Amino acid sequence: MQVFKKKSALKHYLSFIKEQNQQIGFVPTMGALHNGHLSLIEASKKNNDITVVSIFVNPTQFDNKEDLKKYPKTLEKDLALLKTANCDIIFTPTAEEIYDNHIDSSSFSFDGLEDQMEGKFRSGHFNGMATIVQKFFEIVAPTNCYFGEKDFQQLQIVQKLVQKNNIPVHIVGCPIFREKDGLAMSSRNARLTKEERTAVPFIYETLKKIKKKLSENTINETLLFVENQFAKHPVLSLEYITIAEEKTLLTPEKLDVAKKHRAFIAVNAGMIRLIDNISL
Ligand code: PAJ
Repeated sequence: MQVFKKKSALKHYLSFIKEQNQQIGFVPTMGALHNGHLSLIEASKKNNDITVVSIFVNPTQFDNKEDLKKYPKTLEKDLALLKTANCDIIFTPTAEEIYDNHIDSSSFSFDGLEDQMEGKFRSGHFNGMATIVQKFFEIVAPTNCYFGEKDFQQLQIVQKLVQKNNIPVHIVGCPIFREKDGLAMSSRNARLTKEERTAVPFIYETLKKIKKKLSENTINETLLFVENQFAKHPVLSLEYITIAEEKTLLTPEKLDVAKKHRAFIAVNAGMIRLIDNISL
């Protein structure tokens, strides 16, 4: 396993790999790695000759500076985990290396995808995310790049980024990896208190109930049901619940069997904000 901190050294190394026509799989992360991240790495290793993983807590995608400050940083542990996973190349740049002292986002339009859900609650988040992902694509130029459905809106926005800018990379979406009790794995879970950790499986339990509710109720009635479930909850507070079509992320009047839909949720457990979704 080789660890690179400089983009020029990584580019130089990867140019040799490309000369040999090898397929490069890329998994961008912000570290504090868990089995969800590892499932993306496994998918990459299965279908590529070389797997590159980046660990970089990207400052421009944090709308909340406290969240950025408190974001878990476990680099030594992450590197040990990646070694066990037989990862080939790790890229751990500093913010200065990536942003050349201009720690700023570019401005993008994703045909409205960026205005829904997370876009309404995390101003500037998707501009920051797309800025770093585009920079990574320039440096790594991967054949395939892996994203989790856990951040489904992010996955759709990256697909749009690639499409609109004709970036020659294949985006692969990977299923949500969960704890045994249903909680979607997330680096932020480590910051939950004991009481919050006990409460949060309620999020996925409620998402699963949506499927059944929708078979007997309208979308609005189903959303109201979820809102009522959380209104009574002593530990969790609901930020949003949305049922949307996968491609447009817009809420239809009713479900169209010819299209795919998901329910999306954001919940605050004390200071920790968690998101999840389920295919309907
Ligand atoms: P991060 O939150 O570290 O997630 C890195 C990748 O792991 C993302 O594609 C995310 O969707 C995926 N992932 C996280 N938890 C998962 C789970 N439980 N199951 C499956 N996949 C999961 O997402 C980011 O970092 C950043 O926005 C990034 C793309 C690296 C840009 O900075």
